[in-house]
Amino acid sequence: MTAPGLATEKRVLLEGVGVRDVKSLAGYRSRRGYEGLKRALAMTPEAITAEVQRSNVRGRGGAGFPAGRKWGFVPKGTGKPVYLACNADESEPGTFKDRQIMEMVPHLLIEGCLVACRAIGAKVGYIYVRGEYPLSIRALEEALDEARAANLLGKDILGSGFDCDLWVHNGAGAYICGEETGLLSSLEGGRGYPRIKPPFPAVAGLWGCPTIINNVETLAAAAIVMRDGADEYLKTGTPDTPGTRIYGVSGHVERPGWFEFETSVTLRQVIDAAGGVWKGRRLKAVIPGGSSVPVLRADEIDVACDFGSMQKAGTFMGSAGVIVMDETTCMVDALLNLMEFYHHESCGQCTPCREGTGWLEKLVRRIESGEGRPGDVALLASVAETIGGAGAGKTICFLADSAVMPTRSFTLKFREEFEAHVREKRCPFRKATAHAQA
Ligand SMILES: Cc1cc2nc3c(=O)[nH]c(=O)nc-3n(C[C@H](O)[C@H](O)[C@H](O)COP(=O)(O)O)c2cc1C
Ligand code: SF4
Repeated sequence: MTAPGLATEKRVLLEGVGVRDVKSLAGYRSRRGYEGLKRALAMTPEAITAEVQRSNVRGRGGAGFPAGRKWGFVPKGTGKPVYLACNADESEPGTFKDRQIMEMVPHLLIEGCLVACRAIGAKVGYIYVRGEYPLSIRALEEALDEARAANLLGKDILGSGFDCDLWVHNGAGAYICGEETGLLSSLEGGRGYPRIKPPFPAVAGLWGCPTIINNVETLAAAAIVMRDGADEYLKTGTPDTPGTRIYGVSGHVERPGWFEFETSVTLRQVIDAAGGVWKGRRLKAVIPGGSSVPVLRADEIDVACDFGSMQKAGTFMGSAGVIVMDETTCMVDALLNLMEFYHHESCGQCTPCREGTGWLEKLVRRIESGEGRPGDVALLASVAETIGGAGAGKTICFLADSAVMPTRSFTLKFREEFEAHVREKRCPFRKATAHAQA
């Protein structure tokens, strides 16, 4: 039962999880598994793409690009093979939603991949799974074996004349391999270097052939659209972002974990579902969509968790990895943690990113350690401006912008805290934290 005031979870992607077996093929079939594929096999590729387009399933990897539109970009009649690459790298800090699908309903992802392959004309699809996810890899391999044995994969699937196979590819722990073109370079056996776009992968992707890259949850949602139809799908969520999403809540909450809600849920309700801020403390800040998006203050969380509403609130819904920080958090220290990550993960191809992320890390470290100089906070903002931010286009990929956006928002919304570190030549929070924990 749901406590008064709490939003009710809506389990669509994760229907039956934790309640009954939905992991095995038989269990998945008991929740109408593979009915979407059967429907898709009776439709033309164009009709499938049109239906997914009408459902307005938006990319769950972070950018929210409509999946059906993307599928429609595959050029016709090139004579080249077409590929599907499922992005299961799930490397964005604070994000742990795709693994729930892969580990608990792996057939849902397989069905979504098959629907996408049918729509774009691909006979081969790759699922690029984060190397640190051995459980996901094992669950997918087992489900693929079951699907092959049941003629849901391979030649002449269910007597439809459609041939298609899917392969799992293990990543090796680099954040940059989650960036779609870095993922392609890695899949081809090279270093995970992102590529300049255009050409976009839909036109020239794997081995120069048309390739559609979609996130795990996006493909899972496409399977649901095929099963229920676009009209039914459009009844859930908001017009901006129809459907449900899996929100992963981490940080200073009583019960961190994942929750599936319609996208109309507010950020406050998502945090409340996780038991609210822990230890009776007050909320200080929330990063709503994985570490790359701008931070929100405690007074900014009454906002719907769809792409459009978050953008109006000055941030992004991104990967729906909600990171909660309580009143004892030092925002300079929190930013330092992020900057260490982005500097470490920069692939080094672009000077503004390779050098700039290093500068950001050094400057934030200097401020946090009490060695900041007058003007350092302004210098930090100016380095961030020089690198880019929100698609400034100065670098090959968005990793650089992903470091800039938190820097800008942290220094803008919590500027006094940064200034206090410089003024007092120490971290004022060290004492406050010790006091609060006592
Ligand atoms: C540095 C970086 C890391 C990324 N990591 C991931 C990731 O781990 N998983 C993911 O699905 N998308 C990730 N993305 C987004 C992908 O580039 C791409 O937009 C996404 O896979 C497209 O799928 P979608 O349209 O279904 O969202 C990342 C982007 C950047 C710039
Ligand atoms: S922006 Fe950074 S991570 Fe992306 S390609 Fe350039 S150097 Fe590599």
